[in-house]
Amino acid sequence: MSIIINANPISLLLASQALKEGKLVAIPTETVYGLAADATNPSAVEKIFIAKERPQQHPLIVHIADIDQLTDWAIDIPPSAYQLAKKFWPGPLTLILKKHPKVHPIITGNQETIGIRMPAHPVTLAILKQGHLAVAAPSANRHCQISPTTAQHVEEELGDKVDLIIDGGPCAVGVESTIINLTSTPYEILRPGMISQEAISAVLTEKIHTQKSTFSPRVSGSLDKHYSPKKTAMLLPENAILETSLQYKKVAVMAFLEKPKAWSGYWETMPTNAEAYAQKLYSTLRQLDHTDADIILIAKPPMDWLAIYDRLQRACAISHS
Ligand code: TXA
Ligand code: MG
Repeated sequence: MSIIINANPISLLLASQALKEGKLVAIPTETVYGLAADATNPSAVEKIFIAKERPQQHPLIVHIADIDQLTDWAIDIPPSAYQLAKKFWPGPLTLILKKHPKVHPIITGNQETIGIRMPAHPVTLAILKQGHLAVAAPSANRHCQISPTTAQHVEEELGDKVDLIIDGGPCAVGVESTIINLTSTPYEILRPGMISQEAISAVLTEKIHTQKSTFSPRVSGSLDKHYSPKKTAMLLPENAILETSLQYKKVAVMAFLEKPKAWSGYWETMPTNAEAYAQKLYSTLRQLDHTDADIILIAKPPMDWLAIYDRLQRACAISHS
């Protein structure tokens, strides 16, 4: 059994101590829970890959608590990185920069670039500051499964593969950070998140391009099937749900409309506001995955909810593996 502890001054001290000893600690962030290891300790970082069963070439994001730490991890940092950090950090934006030569290749998947972000969660910021730490932390789920947005989800996903789980409550944002590559020309959004391209463009003068879902094994969030429930899930227009449901014995639905009176399966009515929807997305998928339904039918959200649309498409993709 892993240990879940509530965030308090003593547990924060325990967490930074455990990280310094090379242990794995699950930490709350505003996006999803992370599985953290001291980023300066390659053998601790290696444990992340084993615990998650994650292929080694998938690079990890380094989480910092102070903008001054950027220069420990990256070189040739463009002014735009500081402009974005000033505007959006702490917050759900990951910057891809040229890596510092001292960074161990296990973190970067042997690439010349590194992903860095400052998470907006007081508990994790306190753990990092207390120990003068930077941590490598992917989402605390098994590879390709649904990301955890509560401490209980982490336990469900990783159990005793993690030494300590710090419970910082449910994540406020609910989907992973936006990733922008600042080493390419033009800059490129590699993973959409709740910080939109428009919001980023408003801060920068440089051009930005959004990567279309091309298959790139270097970015695990861009594998076709990812963030997936174990059950088959299908994304379809809301008005096709009832008719489609007739083909199955028991159906779980994630829709915008209220549950119809005669409905006998599972039905979750989702918020019509993107922020509130994102916050509930993974916990609802997880909850419906635990039912005895044969399939999860999901009403398509508006196309301009890019981050949400992206995660739902991947949750519903046919596995190519
Ligand atoms: O919100 C988040 O970003 C969460 C929380 C825990 O901070 N973290 C997260 O980590 O989603 P992970 O490992 O599940 O996803 C990180 C993504 C992966 O798709 C990885 O390939 C990409 O970031 N990534 C990391 N470093 C990269 C690099 N140097 N170049 C391109 N992609 C990179
Ligand atoms: Mg992940």
